[in-house]
Order: sequence, then structure tokens, then C-alpha cells
Amino acid sequence: MKPKIYITRKIPEKIYHYLLDHVDIRMWDKEDVPVPREILIQEIQHVDGLLCLLTETIDAELLSYASHLKIISNLAVGYNNIDVKAASQKGIIVTNTPGVLTETTADLTFALLMATARRIVEASEYLRSDQWKTWSPMQLTGQDIYGSTIGIIGMGRIGQAVARRARGFGMNILYYSRARKTSLEEELGLGYCDLDKLLINSDFVSILIPYSPEVHHMIGARELKMMKNSSILINTARGGIVDEKALYEALKDGEIWAAGLDVFEKEPLDLNSPLLSLPNVVTLPHIGSASKKTRLKMAELAAENLIRVLLGGEPITPVDEY
Ligand code: DGY
Repeated sequence: MKPKIYITRKIPEKIYHYLLDHVDIRMWDKEDVPVPREILIQEIQHVDGLLCLLTETIDAELLSYASHLKIISNLAVGYNNIDVKAASQKGIIVTNTPGVLTETTADLTFALLMATARRIVEASEYLRSDQWKTWSPMQLTGQDIYGSTIGIIGMGRIGQAVARRARGFGMNILYYSRARKTSLEEELGLGYCDLDKLLINSDFVSILIPYSPEVHHMIGARELKMMKNSSILINTARGGIVDEKALYEALKDGEIWAAGLDVFEKEPLDLNSPLLSLPNVVTLPHIGSASKKTRLKMAELAAENLIRVLLGGEPITPVDEY
């Protein structure tokens, strides 16, 4: 008898068929609606494997229904949606999809950096809404990228990929991370400093750390006040790292110059969010890794992790154990 799995969202056909060669599949067959929790509770009781997304909260309560589950394969590099400790206590392996999305996410980080610095979205709206009457010297002027300083919070894979791009753009690079990465400093031209110094000295602050309760609101009113009035905050990690209310105030009062946000405290972002009333914020619907090739690679890796464990092998990318 084949192992049974549940997939919490419609996945690419190719990956679905690959999985079908090895396992029996039940799937929440919708593209744009997350599986309701009551259905997930029902389904998880009968399966050996779960392939899920960052939209599903896999907590101790849900896991208490999982009597056969051997693996939770998260189709994302971030896994703050999963209670890994509760899973390991039940002997359940948790995997994620690191590596395959690094460059794509770094590209999007840079796209947000450039869009906010040069007011791309605002300028496009300016033209479309018939405000462009003439060329004038200070019209829609933004901030320079070349020669500026980027402060990268977190120097993991994506942080390093952003640093390589920043180097190519002639930027100075500061970084702060829990563990200093001295071996990379010369190669990437990085200067290590503490968080306060990074905030004070950077023209761009790019957040690239995983979310955990310890970093909840790591960037709040105090930190935003330390940044230059001309500086720009880019968040392509997780929304909860930034205190959104404090960010709104800082942007409104001109304490910082702009923000580029791909992630939010609550997703999808409420259309009544005050952030959306500000012209100096570029907001995206969590598309950091959203290139066709990368999303396919993420799905392939998530499927491979699942199959390997269910066939008695080792996963390729298990998350850190507790
Ligand atoms: C992740 O993988 O954690 C991203 O947020 C989505 O690609």
C-alpha cells in the first residue's frame, strides 16, 4: 500500500504526477483559497505526509490529530508557520525549501530597493493620471543607489545574494547578524556592526532574517527614529519583524523616506491599512520567490523531501532540529 499524503493547495501538474507515482494523494484543489482549518484537521488524521504552504498554521493543536504523520514538507524557506518543537516531539520531520529561491528573492529585494529609491510606482502613476505637464529640475527626484550604504540585517543565503548585487551597484555594505560571518567580509566587501550602528549609518536597510518570536517588532519606533530621514526600509523577510504601526508613523512624519514591503504582519494586507494611503510605500503581495522557474524548483524540492522520508530515506533539506 502506498503512503498517503495531503497537499494543502493546488500544485503544478508536473509535481502532482511525480508524487502520484509514489503516494496516494488528497489535495485541497484550489489555487487562491487556503484550506479551512476544520478540513485540515480532518485530513491530517489519515495521512503519513503533509505538503503545506506558509499560509497554514501547523501548531501543537493541529498536530495532536496527526497520529500517522511522518513528515511536514513546507513549500517555503521560512517555516515560522510550523511549531517545529511540537513536531519533533512527535517524531515528525519538518523540511523547507532553502537555496532554490535565493537569487530570485534577492532580485525582488533589489527591485523594491530601486523602485522606492527612484519612486518608480509613484512616477508611473504620475504619468498615467495626466500630471506630467513638463520636465522640471526637481520633479520626482529620488535617492541615489550608487555610492550609498546598504545595511543588511541577516547574512544568510539571501543576505549574501543581496550583498553581491549591492556590490555591483557600487554600494557600501554594512551587515548585522547574530553570528558574525568573518569569512565572507573580504569576499563581499562587508562591514560588520551592531544593529544600532547599522540603522544610523545606512541609506537602505534590508531585512533578511527568518521570523521567530525573538525578532518580533525588532524594527519599531525606536529603531526607525535612529534611521536617517533620507533612508529606505526594505522588508522581504516576514512582516512581524517590523512594527507596522510605528512604520506608518515614521513614514508619515518623514522620519524615514520610504519603504518597500513584500511582507506584512497580517497577510493579505487589509486594504484599509494606513500604509496604503502613503505615496512613499511600495507594497507587494509576498512575491519574493515568485518566478516560474523558482516556484517550480520549490515545489520539486518539497515533493522530493516528502517522498524520500516516506520511502524510508533522509530528507534533502530538514529544518534545524530542536
Ligand atoms: C519563503 O519561502 O519563506 C517565502 O516567504 C516565500 O517564498
